[in-house]
Amino acid sequence: MENIIEVKNIKRYYKIAKEEKGFWASLKSLVNKKYEIKKAVDDISFEIKKGEITGFIGKNGAGKSTTIKMLSGILYPDSGTVKIDGYIPYKQRKQYVKNIGVVFGQKSQLHWDLPLIESFELMKYIYKIPKKVYEENLKKFVELLDMEDFINQPVRQLSLGQRMRGDIVAALLHSPKLVFLDEPTIGLDVVAKEKIREFIKYMNKNEQTTIIFTTHDMQDIEKVCERLIIIDQGKKVYDGTIAEIKNKYSNIKNIEVMYEDGSKEMKTFDINKIPMNQVMEKLFTEESIKDISICEPEIDGIIRDIYEGKIELNADTKGE
Ligand SMILES: Nc1ncnc2c1ncn2[C@@H]1O[C@H](COP(=O)(O)OP(=O)(O)OP(=O)(O)O)[C@@H](O)[C@H]1O
Ligand SMILES: [Mg+2]
Repeated sequence: MENIIEVKNIKRYYKIAKEEKGFWASLKSLVNKKYEIKKAVDDISFEIKKGEITGFIGKNGAGKSTTIKMLSGILYPDSGTVKIDGYIPYKQRKQYVKNIGVVFGQKSQLHWDLPLIESFELMKYIYKIPKKVYEENLKKFVELLDMEDFINQPVRQLSLGQRMRGDIVAALLHSPKLVFLDEPTIGLDVVAKEKIREFIKYMNKNEQTTIIFTTHDMQDIEKVCERLIIIDQGKKVYDGTIAEIKNKYSNIKNIEVMYEDGSKEMKTFDINKIPMNQVMEKLFTEESIKDISICEPEIDGIIRDIYEGKIELNADTKGE
């Protein structure tokens, strides 16, 4: 499959004014303002193939939204290049946006006072969506996301989960090839999250939509994404499949030990350092154990360790 996204060495730094404390200092700073440079995105490169579904994750403030803004043409990079489906997003914004859909979970793009359906009608007008496409998509999406009950309500009356579904539909009515979803499940209950996950998977499988998806929910990642890009402090620290990352840490075994007195304990072993048979021998000769169970490392545990800096990664840089 060919690449739909090519991002090369993009950087985006923010200049943040330093607040000076005290009267004289703040007066002085009016003339001689001090700035701090925040490296929000600091030399990130990656490629994404048509039809891929990629989780773009990292701690708060890692630089995910800033990257998505550069990819969707809202921000220009200070340096580096972005090429998406033949376009340079921030330069050819008008033509480019017809091919993409963007959802920022933290910020609704719907009209607060209008019934939801009217925001959809407006999208039809703005994007010049052919009547047939619009009607087909609307019917399908409303059904898939179970929206019949609230489609005529003003957006301001909707619950967060209802509003989010509305935002997702509004971003997809024009059948974009590429969709950026920045935290589309934030603050939702488990049922609503599951609905959105199913919908994302449906669009990817059935409409071959390329999807980039940011989230802090590990279930979202595990259930939806095949590929994972992890960023930390504006830099890419991992790029590969979920299976690969699990495999890479398959040497780490968590063993739950149940003692004869009924208590339990979780122990972690690196079987590259101590072979499994020695681990077993050690456990059974030294301690009064009733039973053990070996747990494969879970993706959320691995990712937590990466975020906390317990696992060192060298950016695996696929495709570079
Ligand atoms: N407009 C701005 N002006 C100054 N600094 C900014 C601006 N936007 C973002 N930043 C800073 O850039 C860094 C990256 O922010 P960004 O929003 O991209 O993070 P994020 O990975 O999306 O985090 P989160 O998971 O919390 O949404 C942060 O340190 C943030 O404070
Ligand atoms: Mg963000």
